[in-house]
Amino acid sequence: MGLALARTLLAEGMDVTIVGRSADRLAAARTELAAARTELERDAQGGLDTVTADIGRAEDVAGLFDRVGQVEHVVVTAMDATGAYGRSADVTTATARAVIDTKLLGAWLVGRHAAGHVTGSITYTSGINAYRPNGSNTIVAAANGALASLAYGLAVELAPVRVNVISPGWVDTPLWDQLGMDKQTAFTQLSERLPARRIGTPDDIAQAFLSVMRNGFITATVLHVDGGHRLS
Ligand SMILES: NC(=O)c1ccc[n+]([C@@H]2O[C@H](COP(=O)([O-])OP(=O)(O)OC[C@H]3O[C@@H](n4cnc5c(N)ncnc54)[C@H](OP(=O)(O)O)[C@@H]3O)[C@@H](O)[C@H]2O)c1
Repeated sequence: MGLALARTLLAEGMDVTIVGRSADRLAAARTELAAARTELERDAQGGLDTVTADIGRAEDVAGLFDRVGQVEHVVVTAMDATGAYGRSADVTTATARAVIDTKLLGAWLVGRHAAGHVTGSITYTSGINAYRPNGSNTIVAAANGALASLAYGLAVELAPVRVNVISPGWVDTPLWDQLGMDKQTAFTQLSERLPARRIGTPDDIAQAFLSVMRNGFITATVLHVDGGHRLS
């Protein structure tokens, strides 16, 4: 989702900084984004920077905002789902803490350190499991659910900076490779039930981020971009 958003923003002529823990994956993302840019008018493209940082580490997040200085918008998609799915009895306490450290505390660290640097908006990414838990994602659902309250609190605290949450449904991304399940079968079964009759794409979510970034009257809002999954 983050990569799709970076591609969209660069095409809109914005300067973009992408962040992750792995320098190798960031280099691969840079190469992929550069390849996409050759197909478009280069003059209309924004600049790209990459920063290696772990959202769960306060010093990394502080260093990130020191480096970028002033920024108009911040979007957070970070999540490492390794070991986090399964019945609660089968999820280790260390894994549960890691989920909270990245998904919730990391999000709070971004809000804390973005203050004074961000002028427009912060958008977090939660997920359908906060609203339709399935018995095998409880700790992730809890962290995702808490992001709504975090956004409401920060929307008041950081106003007039707008703070929102996008809650995606199932989206075909590399995250699914961490879950050890038959992705295609699961996607086919869900597609038949979903009002949208299909699984989401990273670009569906990128367009939603862009809408929330651009609309100056959306704040303290959870926007569900899930193909109607909450009703299925
Ligand atoms: N895909 C879905 O069906 C789905 C559904 C609902 C909600 N979501 C949520 O949507 C968000 C984006 O998901 P996605 O599918 O795009 O996942 P993804 O393809 O696995 O990408 C996650 C990104 O987060 C980065 N990351 C992980 N841990 C990090 C950390 N501690 N610090 C900094 N960066 C970190 C990863 O890079 P490095 O590993 O290199 O750090 C990776 O670039 C997640 O929050 C996820 O929970 C996804």
